[in-house]
Amino acid sequence: MSNIEQTLSIIKPDAVERNLEGQIKEIFIRNGFRIIEEKKIQINKSEAEKFYKVHETKPFYNELCNYLSSGPIVVMKLEKENAIFENRELMGSTNPKDAKEGTIRKKFGLSIDKNSVHGSDSLENANIELDFFFKT
Ligand code: CMP
Repeated sequence: MSNIEQTLSIIKPDAVERNLEGQIKEIFIRNGFRIIEEKKIQINKSEAEKFYKVHETKPFYNELCNYLSSGPIVVMKLEKENAIFENRELMGSTNPKDAKEGTIRKKFGLSIDKNSVHGSDSLENANIELDFFFKT
C-alpha cells in the first residue's frame, strides 16, 4: 500500500549563510523528494518560540530560538513515500558528529545547534509544522 506523506524541511541559517541551499535541495531531489512549496523567509524570535514550543522546557530552548531567528531560512513542503522517516534518515543524527556518512548533517552540519537542516519527527508534528509555515 502506498503511503505518500508530506513533511516540513527547514534549511537553517548556517546553511543559507554558506550558500548551501542549492546543494541541499539537489540532495532531496536526487533522493526522490518533490518540493511542493518553498519560501525563503526570516522569522522573529517569538515566531521561533512558537515553532519550537515542544522544546520549551529544554535548557537549549532560548539559544535555539535565537538561532532560528538569526538569519534567513528556507522552508519547504516535501513529499515522498514515507517522507517523514525518509527525511530523518537523509538528514542524519541531530548532532552532526554522530551522523552517518552520506547524510546532510554529516556533510554540512557544523555543531548540534548549527546542524543545517530541520525535519518533522512525526506525522502529527509534520502536520502542525506544515500548517505553521504554509497554511493559507
Ligand atoms: P532540530 O531538528 O531543529 O530540533 C531542535 C533543535 O535543537 C535540534 O535540531 C538542534 O539543532 C537543537 N539542539 C541544541 N542542543 C540540543 C541538544 N542538546 N539536544 C537536541 N537538540 C539540540
